[in-house]
Amino acid sequence: MSDPVVNAGGATAAPPAPPASAKPTPKPAAKPAKGETRREWWGTVAWTTFTASMIAMLLGTVRFLFPNVLSEPPNTFKGGDITTFEEGKVEDKFKDRGAWIILDRDEKNRRIIYALSTICTHLGCTPNWLVGEKKFKCPCHGSGFKISGVNFEGPAPRPLERYAVKKTDDNQVLVDKSKKYQKELGQWDDPDSFILV
Ligand code: FES
Repeated sequence: MSDPVVNAGGATAAPPAPPASAKPTPKPAAKPAKGETRREWWGTVAWTTFTASMIAMLLGTVRFLFPNVLSEPPNTFKGGDITTFEEGKVEDKFKDRGAWIILDRDEKNRRIIYALSTICTHLGCTPNWLVGEKKFKCPCHGSGFKISGVNFEGPAPRPLERYAVKKTDDNQVLVDKSKKYQKELGQWDDPDSFILV
């Protein structure tokens, strides 16, 4: 303990306060060297590129493993109640799904329902059903097809193809586009290519 200080008048005085400790003044942050900044920038670019390519690769793998999951509609669909079809009338409302459904008479004069593909057998355009002329007409090069799908004018080399059809338990026409039938190969005789009504 320090002794009290006696001044000239004999009075005691408090010992001098110790000097206040000086606060350290913060040093300004060291500026990164120019080369270091550039290195960091290139590091970020490289990392971003790497991450992006990894994501792209992953998406490519998913697409490869599940090619049709999101992009294609299912191959089968119900085309309406069998009793609602009229003889000689083309049901056009499934054209955007790739098929016309028709009730008509075949070469043996049987009443049948069949589903025709909407792909022209020339170069793949989509023909239109012309009600007044009772024919399918391709807008690309003028091929014409009868209501049966048989080609009779223009460059199409063969009839339109049929899809598999069957009657469901609830009396609907079920179209299955995964199975096709070609007349020129004798496949229109296959009972899966039409429904007898
Ligand atoms: S694609 Fe139909 S006539 Fe050519």
